[in-house]
Amino acid sequence: MAGVIIEPVLGGGGCIPATSEYLKGIQEFVHKNGSLFILDEIVTGFRFRFGCLYPTMKLDPDIVTLGKIVGGGMPIGVMCGKKEIMQRADTTGKKKSERAYIGGGTFSANPVSMTSGFATLSELKQTKNAIYPKINSLGKFARSELGKIFGDRVIITGMGSLFMTHFAKNGVTEIVNSEQASKCDTELLHKYHFKMISQDGIFFLPGKLGAISNAHSKDDINKIILASENF
Ligand SMILES: Cc1ncc(COP(=O)(O)O)c(C=O)c1O
Repeated sequence: MAGVIIEPVLGGGGCIPATSEYLKGIQEFVHKNGSLFILDEIVTGFRFRFGCLYPTMKLDPDIVTLGKIVGGGMPIGVMCGKKEIMQRADTTGKKKSERAYIGGGTFSANPVSMTSGFATLSELKQTKNAIYPKINSLGKFARSELGKIFGDRVIITGMGSLFMTHFAKNGVTEIVNSEQASKCDTELLHKYHFKMISQDGIFFLPGKLGAISNAHSKDDINKIILASENF
């Protein structure tokens, strides 16, 4: 086994935070096998704090992937890792036959993505003490208010500025893994999102999680709450 790659919060799989014990268990298992523990922080990187999520979970990943926020809205993919691993792909002073190939292509180090990412991270660095508490508390507000409106009909998952509504089905009463999420009523979730898109002026990627940004305000969350009361 070369390694295990896992998200600290499942994004597309249902917006489900992993416990640090679970991830530590995987990390221990992987390291015992001499394999790499790789964290996919494409969604979670710079979403809850200025940096990755893994230090808050006391994890020690060998490789971390980043994307989305670090590109400031432009397409980007970033691979970071421990020095001894990244050195294997270092293009300076190593012959092609001696080094690992990470990638490269037309859009690698794309100047527009680099500029946009740099501007976003610079802004976040300066305003992190205001932005993160604000978006995290809007997420908490959304999760708790949606929970009150839907009651047992819906199981709410997420953390910080991420939230997702799962319409209960097939006896599912809690969601701690993607299998439970997939048993929920995804057709009804799509109807709920399409209703908000077509009637309420609220865009959701149909069937997926909600992600609050600094452009959102409490009024936007109240709009979602109102739209949910009528569903
Ligand atoms: C957690 C996670 N990993 C990986 C990817 C794929 O990223 P990319 O589109 O840059 O290949 C996504 C895309 O949405 C993602 O959410």
